[in-house]
Amino acid sequence: MNTQIGLRERRMTMMTTFADGIPFPLLGMGVMKIADDAVPAAMLAAVSAGYRAFDTAPVYANEIGVGNGMRDCGLERADIAITTKLWNARQGYDETLRAFDDSLAALGLDYIDLYLIHWPVPKLGRYLDSWRALIRLQEEGRARAIGVSNFTVAHLDRIIGETGVVPAINQIELHPRWQQPELRAYHERHGIVTQAWSPLGRGSALDNPPVTEIAAAINRSPSQVILRWLTQLDIVVIPKASSAGHLRENIASFDFTLDDQAMATMAKLHAEDGRFGPHPDAFEMM
Ligand SMILES: NC(=O)c1ccc[n+]([C@@H]2O[C@H](COP(=O)([O-])OP(=O)(O)OC[C@H]3O[C@@H](n4cnc5c(N)ncnc54)[C@H](OP(=O)(O)O)[C@@H]3O)[C@@H](O)[C@H]2O)c1
Repeated sequence: MNTQIGLRERRMTMMTTFADGIPFPLLGMGVMKIADDAVPAAMLAAVSAGYRAFDTAPVYANEIGVGNGMRDCGLERADIAITTKLWNARQGYDETLRAFDDSLAALGLDYIDLYLIHWPVPKLGRYLDSWRALIRLQEEGRARAIGVSNFTVAHLDRIIGETGVVPAINQIELHPRWQQPELRAYHERHGIVTQAWSPLGRGSALDNPPVTEIAAAINRSPSQVILRWLTQLDIVVIPKASSAGHLRENIASFDFTLDDQAMATMAKLHAEDGRFGPHPDAFEMM
C-alpha cells in the first residue's frame, strides 16, 4: 500500500515532515469563502505561483471546485496535496466513513492527502469514534495522512490514549495575537505538526505596529513577516488570498529569514484576549 503523499514537485514550497516521514508543504492556500465556481481560477493562479497544497472542507461548499481546480491546473494528481475535513454533523464511526466517501465524490478523487476532524464538538461525544474511522481510512490508503482541527490537549490526550494513534497534524487558530504556546508545546512532545488557520488574523494582524516595523526594516510586507515567522517555527500556514498578487506575495515569504530579534518580537505579540474564533469546547454548529 502506498501511503506517501505525492508531491513529486518539491522545488516551489518548503516542506515539513509528519512523524511517519510523510513530507507536507509548509504553505498552502486556504479556500474558505471562495465561491465554488471561482475556485478553479484561484487554484490556477496559486499553482502558477508555486502552491502545491489546498485546504478545503465540506462546510466551505467548494469541494467540487477544488476537484475541478486540481484537474484543470495542469499538474499531476501526485503533485498536489488536498486537505479536507469531516464536518461536525457527520461525526460517529459509520457516518464518518460515509462523509469521507461524499468528500471523495465531490472532489472527484480516489484518495485524500490529509483528512481532518474539523471540530471536536465534545458535547456530541463522537470524536473518538470518528478518529477510529479516520484510522481505518488511513489503513486502507484512502487518506494518506490523518489529523484533527481545533483539538485541545484534553481531546488529543483522549484519542491518543484510547487508540495509540497520534494525529499527524492539529489545525488550530494561530496568529500573532493568539499563539497557543501550551498546545504547541504538547504538539512538540508528541510529534504533532502544528497548522495555523487564519495565520494573518483574517487581515487584522497586518497593521499591527511591531509587524509593520519589522516589515519596513527588511523591506518586506507584513503578511510575509507573519508567514515567515510561522514557517520558521515549522508551523504549516494556509492563508486565504483571492488575488494573484497576494498569492505571489505570500509564497515569496520563503526567500528570506527573520533574525532572532524579529522572532522574539513576534513571540511577544501574544495576548490573552487574542482569540477571535470560538473556543473548541463551545463550537457546536451542525
Ligand atoms: N479549521 C478551522 O476551523 C478553520 C477556521 C478558519 C479558517 N480555516 C482555514 O484557514 C484559511 C485561512 O483563514 P482566513 O481566511 O480566516 O484568514 P487569513 O488567511 O488569516 O486571512 C485572509 C485575509 O487576509 C487577506 N490577505 C491574504 N494575503 C494578503 C496579503 N499578502 N496582503 C494583504 N492581505 C492579504 C485576504 O485578502 P484577499 O482575499 O483580498 O487576498 C483575506 O482578507 C481558510 O481559508 C481555511 O482554509 C480553518
